[in-house]
Formats: sequence, C-alpha cells, structure tokens
Amino acid sequence: MENRRIAEILRSGEPDEFVAVQGWVRTKRELKGFSFIEVNDGSCLASLQVVLNQDLPDYDDILKKLNTGASVEVAGVLVGSLGKGQRIELKTDKIKVFGEADPETYPLQKKRHSFEFLRTIGHLRSRTNSFGAVFRVRNACATAIHQFFQERGFLWVHTPIITANDCEGAGELFSVTSLDLKNVPRTQTQAIDYSKDFFSKPTYLTVSGQLEAEVMAMAFTNVYTFGPTFRAENSNTSRHLAEFWMVEPEMAFCDLKGDMDLAEAFLKHIFKYVLETCPEDMEFFNQRIDNTVLATADNIINNKFERITYTEAVKLLEKADVQFEYPVNWGLDLQSEHERYLCEQLFKKPVIVSNYPAQIKAFYMRLDEDEKTVSAMDILAPKIGEIIGGSQREERLDVLERRIQAQGMKPEDLWWYLDLRRFGTVPHAGFGLGFERLVQFMTGMGNIRDVIPFPRTPESAEF
Ligand code: 4AD
Ligand code: MG
Repeated sequence: MENRRIAEILRSGEPDEFVAVQGWVRTKRELKGFSFIEVNDGSCLASLQVVLNQDLPDYDDILKKLNTGASVEVAGVLVGSLGKGQRIELKTDKIKVFGEADPETYPLQKKRHSFEFLRTIGHLRSRTNSFGAVFRVRNACATAIHQFFQERGFLWVHTPIITANDCEGAGELFSVTSLDLKNVPRTQTQAIDYSKDFFSKPTYLTVSGQLEAEVMAMAFTNVYTFGPTFRAENSNTSRHLAEFWMVEPEMAFCDLKGDMDLAEAFLKHIFKYVLETCPEDMEFFNQRIDNTVLATADNIINNKFERITYTEAVKLLEKADVQFEYPVNWGLDLQSEHERYLCEQLFKKPVIVSNYPAQIKAFYMRLDEDEKTVSAMDILAPKIGEIIGGSQREERLDVLERRIQAQGMKPEDLWWYLDLRRFGTVPHAGFGLGFERLVQFMTGMGNIRDVIPFPRTPESAEF
C-alpha cells in the first residue's frame, strides 16, 4: 500500500481504496464503540477524518496516545462519509504512533489562539489552520512568480547576499565582519582597520540585489533575482521586517512605462494563479481573517491600476477633506497615511505613483527632462501602502556620476556599475516587490510577522 497525501485523497480518493497516510492529530472525538480523529499532513487546510472501531487491537491503549499533536501513520480503507463536512473518510485497521504529545504541556490545544501568542511558539504555529494556509499561499505566490518570468524568457539570476555597496543609499545596513569585536584592530588614527577583516574592506548584508541584477541584464536582456534582503531600519511596524524577500526584475531596452506595464501584469498573474491553485485557503482567509480578500483579488485581476504622477498625487492630497498627521508638500515623501488615502479612499484600487522628486529618491533613478523629478514609480496597495518600488535607471554616465556625488557617495566605489554606462549602455528599468507585503495583501493578514515562517524584527530573532 502506498502512502498518499491527504489533499490528493480528499480530492480524488474513492470508496474501497486501501490507503495509508502520515500526519499529526488535530482532534480526537470519542463516541460509544468508536472514535474519530482528524489527521492533517499540511498538504491542505482540511484534515482527513479517521474512524477507529473499538474492535481494533489495543483500542484503549492507542486512543490514549492519540492526542492533539501526536504523529501517526494510519492505514485502512476509504469509505464514503455519512457525516457532513467531508466526502470521504478512512476506516482504519492499523495505527502507528510515532510520537505522542502530552496534552498537559503541548501548547496548541484545540481552541483559538491569538497571533501574538502563536508568535511565541514559532516552532509550532505552522501546525495551525491559519499558518498552514499562509505558508501554502506563500509557496503558491513564489511558484507564480517563477512561472510569470520563465514564461516570458527572463533569466533567474542569483545576486550576492554579502556586498560592499549600499544600493538604496539609506544607510540601513547590517555589517558583516569576522573581526574579533572584543579586540578590534585599529589604524594609527584609531579607525577600524578593515584591511584586517575577512574581505579587506567593510561589507554588509545586501539591502537589494538590483545593482547586480543590472549587471546581468546588460548581458541577458531580461533577468530577475528573488532572494532575502536585509534592512537595519528600526521600524517596529506591521509592514517592516529586518529580513525580507524581494523579487527584482531588471529589463534592458525598457523605459518607465514598460516597467509599470510589467509590474501590473505581474501582480495580476500572481493573484490569478493563487485563486486557481489555493481556492480553499483563500476562502478561509475571506471567512476568518478579512472578508474583503476575495473581492480585492477580483478587483486586482479585473481592473486597470490607477496611474498618476507624484505632482498630481500631491495636488489630490492637498484637496483632500481629511486631516493628515504629516504635512503634504511638493518635495516631501508620501507617508503611509497619504498612500492609503489615495488607494483606499480616492481610487479604491492599486495606484501607481510616478516621477517623484529627485532629492527623495535613490541615486540610480533616471533624471527626468525637468531635472526636478526622476523616472521612479511606486505601486501602492490598499491596507499595505507601498508594495512595489521601481524605476527607469540612469543610463547616462555623466548624469549618473553627478547623482552619485550629489548623494555623498564615491563614484570610485561603484566603478563596475559605472562601467555598465561606459560599455554598451542602454535604457533599462526594473522594480522590487516586497514578497511578504504581497503575501499580506493576498491573505489579508494584518501583521507582516505572520506571513514569513521565522520573522526577524528589532529585538527579535528567536527560532
Ligand atoms: O522600494 P525599495 O527600497 O526598492 C528597492 O530596493 C529597489 N532596489 C528595487 C528595484 O528597483 N529593484 O524596496 C522594494 C520593496 C518595497 O516596495 C516594499 O514592498 C519592500 O521592498 N520592502 C520591505 N518589505 C518588508 N520589510 C521592509 N523593511 C521593507 N523595505 C522594503
Ligand atoms: Mg521604496
């Protein structure tokens, strides 16, 4: 008899088939003469209902061990279920208990636990319905992303995690060093002597794979990188992580309009794919987490995103009849309350804001004709705010050098990046999607810590 996954059995198992499954007990119900246990193996939201008859050898002994959390293998025959809630159930004649879970100490008993509590048991929370659904949807999002790019001929490139550059220039870097922090080598002027460090210079965990993705786009035309990125920004919010995953496509021979078109098609594709492949999990989110999740998905797939310039956005915000906490003024960055007003109140759908003031954006963004704005774009999503940030890149050597200097950086440090503008430069563009913000948007989960298996946030790196 072959072992089968529960999702597949619930979908296509037929009465009279003999099957064996392995998983963890979710609940046990003892009735007169028989008992039900629900077994879940993570393959789907639903558990398999298993019926144990009291004529099973060692019935009483085994039943005592079948508490919530115990790991089991059950074998038997599938029968059509009389109860409602499931099409098919398993009548077992053989049960093996791998490991028990003491009901006195196993923290995940059958009751609703708060997400705050579940964060304190990050090693066990994936065994709950909510986290099972989150991580299956997260997996589907990742699959949809690869599918989208692979179908369009993009090369998946792997950019480094340790780098010597600060792509965003925001100084939110985690240092990487092998120096002995108790005995740091010093130069004559008492500065840290990085020549003695592992890489002979200061290095960091990457904040973005973009600069290296640009290198690869200058050879392969269309590429994407999808990996972990790190930011030491001390923001304790429901939308910031110190370690998060980012998807960054980079396209040669592409301008800002092409960049926005791709980003919009990309988000639509991911939503479509997840609705098709995870309908039960999505239904679960709609019922239990946020009852606008399915309507939002429908809205994303079927409506064009709104597109406005930063200058237009500022005008709309100045006209708004709401009292914002932060000032609105041409030249100031949009705050989360402004972003949310635009997509939640005004347009009621994602909004792509473009052409931001040059002084609030990164050095690599292409300077517009007016020399005041850059060809940047952010996609703002209801409840999340910024979900994608992207731009057309500065392909003109002289302008790029000026921009680097203006931001207090040294062109020599980016010699290889500038070389791309010296040898066969082309207009090019790309964007970065915050993967966890996407999963939040998709599932309606309120806190970003609950859409990544092991969140890293200020003062928290457990598990
Ligand atoms: O807007 P950001 O900083 O853009 C870049 O890093 C560019 N280099 C991307 C590119 O053009 N290739 O970050 C991109 C996205 C944001 O829109 C947001 O969704 C997400 O990354 N993000 C975070 N997600 C979780 N926690 C954080 N601390 C995040 N910071 C940014
Ligand atoms: Mg941004």
